[in-house]
Amino acid sequence: MNLQRIVVIGAGTMGSGIAQWFAQKMCFVELVDNSSEQLQKALHSIHASWDKLVEKEKLSSCQVNQMKKLLEVKHLEQVSKSADLVIEAIIENLEIKKELFHKLDHYFSPQTIISSNTSSFPITLMSEAVSNERKSRFVGLHFFNPATMMKLVEVIKGEKTDSKLCQDLYAWFESKDKKPALCKDSPGFIVNRVARNFYGEPLRIVESDDENKMKEVDKILKEVGGFKMGPFELMDLIGIDVNYSVTCSVWDAYQKEARFAPHKLQKQMVDEKRFGRKSKRGFYKYD
Ligand code: NAI
Repeated sequence: MNLQRIVVIGAGTMGSGIAQWFAQKMCFVELVDNSSEQLQKALHSIHASWDKLVEKEKLSSCQVNQMKKLLEVKHLEQVSKSADLVIEAIIENLEIKKELFHKLDHYFSPQTIISSNTSSFPITLMSEAVSNERKSRFVGLHFFNPATMMKLVEVIKGEKTDSKLCQDLYAWFESKDKKPALCKDSPGFIVNRVARNFYGEPLRIVESDDENKMKEVDKILKEVGGFKMGPFELMDLIGIDVNYSVTCSVWDAYQKEARFAPHKLQKQMVDEKRFGRKSKRGFYKYD
């Protein structure tokens, strides 16, 4: 497998990180969003991150100049139809994703692999939006936040996804220093299923919007549990809105089993637009 031309759709938290990682691996990347403002913001923050890596002498200015040339921001109608791989990283909403996949299926060449970075929707269900011919080249590629640093990529095989394609993707990511995992197409795949309790139980422990209690839980899980981030810090990084959508979708998929139930505080925060770091206010404040 030779992945050279990548299209990433959605220039938010995940899409911009994924685009940055692929450019760092010397792929040509076209980053798409339906908001021009978001595209410019993403480009600015990726460039700033690369400039910082030059300052810290982790990358040379020559490498960064090359990466900057490899990354372009565009609207969908402007991207190359013969991309090797498309990664969808838009809002976690099944109908909106399916509408996009239908469009992508018509737009890209039959050889193009179309993938989703969904946190929770079944790959087989989303593949209903593409033609039968494309289904074998439709796959889940679930990156973790921040995508440039987190090594794990879940490679999810839908019912009709070609097994050989999954194995080739696995080998390609491994060769690029990621740690891929082949996953079944089950709700939340591996990590997001296990992680539901990492968020849900701490929310049930603190019960109310009490920053001191949250700090205490975060501190205990970091100091005693050995986690790099506490659950409240991590939810703020992921995005409260994104985490809430994933919680609801995994809960629905498990017929509303109590252990997966969302907490009332999550919905309250989404209604108040406290989305975490990206809106400067989540469980904690970011100024
Ligand atoms: P985000 O809210 O930061 O970014 C989503 C972006 O998609 C926005 O810039 C928005 O303008 C754009 N967008 C929405 N509809 C679009 C469309 N039809 N066409 C083009 N662009 C469109 O969301 P985030 O956090 O980046 O999540 C994206 C996906 O990645 C979701 O499926 C989420 O479940 C998944 N994910 C999120 C993780 C996280 O930690 N935030 C981790 C792993 C997966």
